[in-house]
Order: sequence, then structure tokens, then C-alpha cells
Amino acid sequence: MRKTIIAGNWKMNNTRKEARELASELAKALKGKSGLPEVVLCPPFTSLADTVDAVKGAPVAVGAQNMDYHDSGAYTGEISPQMLLELGVTYVLIGHSERRQLFGETNQTVNLKLKAALKQGLIPIVCVGETLDERENNLTDAVVSRQTAAALENIDLEALKPLVVAYEPVWAIGTGKVCESAEANRVIAIIRNTIANCKPGAANLAEQTPILYGGSVNAKNSVELLTQPQIDGGLVGGASLKVDEFLSIIEAGQKRLVALGARA
Ligand code: PGA
Repeated sequence: MRKTIIAGNWKMNNTRKEARELASELAKALKGKSGLPEVVLCPPFTSLADTVDAVKGAPVAVGAQNMDYHDSGAYTGEISPQMLLELGVTYVLIGHSERRQLFGETNQTVNLKLKAALKQGLIPIVCVGETLDERENNLTDAVVSRQTAAALENIDLEALKPLVVAYEPVWAIGTGKVCESAEANRVIAIIRNTIANCKPGAANLAEQTPILYGGSVNAKNSVELLTQPQIDGGLVGGASLKVDEFLSIIEAGQKRLVALGARA
């Protein structure tokens, strides 16, 4: 059974104080609960240490929103994987569409970052997804396949075991326009198929890789999305900034786990 993951991408929101408050409230609500999905909070770099501290003892992991792929050196403004590990960070988002569109990240840098994350023992959440223009030109399947295959290039099958992917159609991010659940399920199946065909013997890897959906996930649409067989969780932006809303999405993840358990 694949892991169900609910990850909150706070983007450039929350001061240290606000991060501590939000993370503490979530930790308090989740402490001692069983049957939870894997819950991951991704605050800005400046709030990582506070967030790690605030969720201590609760079933909540912390992820960074980005990182550099070098170990150390003359890379002004960048943060290395080791620096994240030192803080107690266990996850990292790689190639979020905002990084690709606004900060010049490419399939090649995504590949380098994925290699670095795996080498250092961070769990990578690699983001892929098409723009509105690409969707309207029937390029969705080709784009997500190309992004996925490029990310995995020249990485051993064995090393890829911790991989997590997030399908995030760019037109659905922060717009309130969620991708229809059946369509998200279909595209995620394409991504899974791409992983299966990326190298010989990758069928198992594809079957075991959690693939999340992201883009305007909220409390209301999360249950519907998370009942789809291919959608293993959510990467949640705006709705992860509100305690009750995010807790409802985590509950949808719990429901998925119950349904999967009943089927197994
Ligand atoms: P959104 O963002 O939930 O606010 O659409 C998702 C993301 O960018 O990861």
C-alpha cells in the first residue's frame, strides 16, 4: 500500500512567530491520533527550525520548499541539503512551478536537486504540471511525462525508493480552479506509467511511489480528490495556512486510509 501524504506548502507566508503558532496548533490537534496520513509542513527557510521545534512529539514532518544541489561553496543566497538536515528537516519540495516559472528552474536543475536530496537522505517531493496554454494545446500528457522522465534521469532505481511526486497543474495553483478529480487521476496514471517506463525494472518503483495532487485543494474538494485510486495525497498551498481547513484535508487523508485498508 502506498503512503498517503498531506503536505502544506506555506510558500512565502508566516513569520517565525506565526509559523510557531500554526505548527503548534496543528501539532496539538494531531498528537496521539492514529490512522493519520503522513503530514508534512513546508514553511519558509527562516521558520524551519521553529516549525521543527513546534511539532516535536507530534506525527508531523517538516519540509523545505527548495534547496541547492551543491554541498557547500560560493553560492550566495542558497541553502544546502546538509543545512536542512541539521535543522531536523526530512522533506524537500523540488521544482515547484513557482520555482520553474519565476526563478528559472529547469528540468536539469530539478534532476540535480533530486540527486542531491536522495544522496543526502531528504525525501524529495518532485513537482510537475502543465500550464494552461499547454493544456489547451493538448500537451498535458507530453509535458508531465517529459518533466517526470527528465527528473529521474541517471538515477539508480534503488536510490529512487523515497521518491514522492506531486502533479500540480499550473493553472490550478492559487486560482481556486481545481482540476477535476477524474482528470487529475488520469494524469497521475500517466505520471506513474512514465516512472514505470523510465528504466528497466521500474514497474515496482512506479507502483510504490506516492503521487500527490496539488492546485486549489481545500476542505471541500479534498474528499472527492482523495477517493481517486491514483491520488495518494495532496500538496496544499493556501488552505494549509488555516488550521481548521488543513485539519479537514488531513481528515480526508484519514478517510482514504480507512477505505484502502478495507479494500486490502
Ligand atoms: P494552492 O497551491 O493550494 O494555493 O493552489 C498549491 C501549491 O502551489 O503547492
